[in-house]
Amino acid sequence: MKNVFSIVSAFALTLVLASGQVGAQSPPASAPAAAIPAVQAAPADARAVKSQNIFEVKPDASQEPGYAAQTNGERAKVQPGNNAPMWRQVGSGVTGYSSLPKDQAPEAGVLIQPFVQYPGSRLTNAGEAWRQTRNQWIIPYGGSLVLIALGALGLFYWRVGPIKLHEKPTGRMIMRFTLFERAAHWANAIAFCILAISGLIMAFGKFFLLPVMGLSLFGWLTYLLKNAHNFAGPVFAVSLLIVIITFVRDNLPAKGDLSWVLKGGGMLGGEEVKSGRFNAGEKIVFWGGVFLLGLIVIGSGLVMDKLIPGLGYERGTMQLAHLVHSVSNILMVVMFMAHIYLGTVGTEGAYQGMKTGYVDETWAKAHHALWLEDVKSGKIPPQRSATAVSGQPVQV
Ligand code: HEM
Repeated sequence: MKNVFSIVSAFALTLVLASGQVGAQSPPASAPAAAIPAVQAAPADARAVKSQNIFEVKPDASQEPGYAAQTNGERAKVQPGNNAPMWRQVGSGVTGYSSLPKDQAPEAGVLIQPFVQYPGSRLTNAGEAWRQTRNQWIIPYGGSLVLIALGALGLFYWRVGPIKLHEKPTGRMIMRFTLFERAAHWANAIAFCILAISGLIMAFGKFFLLPVMGLSLFGWLTYLLKNAHNFAGPVFAVSLLIVIITFVRDNLPAKGDLSWVLKGGGMLGGEEVKSGRFNAGEKIVFWGGVFLLGLIVIGSGLVMDKLIPGLGYERGTMQLAHLVHSVSNILMVVMFMAHIYLGTVGTEGAYQGMKTGYVDETWAKAHHALWLEDVKSGKIPPQRSATAVSGQPVQV
């Protein structure tokens, strides 16, 4: 319904502008010529017009003497049907009539965004600039980054394989994650997977799914995924905040972190560098991926869902939010591909810890020796680390 309104109002606006009855803010008939350079002349080859941006303008209006200064009436006499002056007004951000309520539809009377000139670039329409940035930069470079990361993880698994335990499991189980911690983590992880899969298909699906599925099936799929994305977003936002609050204390910088980073964790060279409950690698993912990127992704996502009260939600705001959301999400997906790899097939026994809450003492000694020492010395209170000397997990 909203779309029908937009189309109808856009059409009405076109008619109003075409008849020269632009709103009170419209400049005098001669103004656009001075403010906006002439529209590029149509190329002789009609096929070329298809891919040309009609709102792109030449910086030097003198290349088409006189045309730019023509009013609709004058132009109609020399070139009937050519309403370039009207489009110049539209492109300058002139507002017209719209029946949409102003508080619900910001910029309702503006048919297209005004021209903008970014430093070092040509004068262009802001919507077109956004489209080009998405299609020429984010899609190819972002897609390549995801594929490179996927390939690198595959290569790593193939050549190096999973990080295995060198000693036999003792059977003594140590509580690593409470039920609450696991519930927060999995709620967040499931929401993340829904968001990542739906987001990646919406952005890149037309390259690998559309040719296989066809237009209608792909249309339905992306429609469903878009709705799944919109609902999983707020679940992710809330659970991420809980994850941040739950794990922040054990992710604060500690003494051995620098040496862990300098030695690359020591994981490739056999002996792992001793670490507390979480190692420096996990802390980097926590602060860079969960905290920083997580908050950026959530903030920009909430803008696109129009869930932040008091914001204008103009076209420019949505375009900026979309660009920020796409870039931060691609980085987050790449970071979490590594996290998911290490949390599943990449480290023997890690997934078990997050699934059941318990890890074997041998696992704790191999990966988080300082944490194990704290547990054994009683430095960590029992509700956060119950050891079962009998070999049976202890419920707390
Ligand atoms: C399918 C997806 C995921 C899997 C399989 C997975 C797996 C794991 C595993 C096994 C651990 C325990 C590591 C250890 O014992 O040291 C862990 C910890 C953790 N995960 Fe995930 N995870 C997933 C997604 C996520 C997501 C989406 C987030 C947040 C955006 C996240 C945030 C965390 C945090 C904060 C920790 C605690 C360690 C730390 O703070 O560095 N995980 N995950």
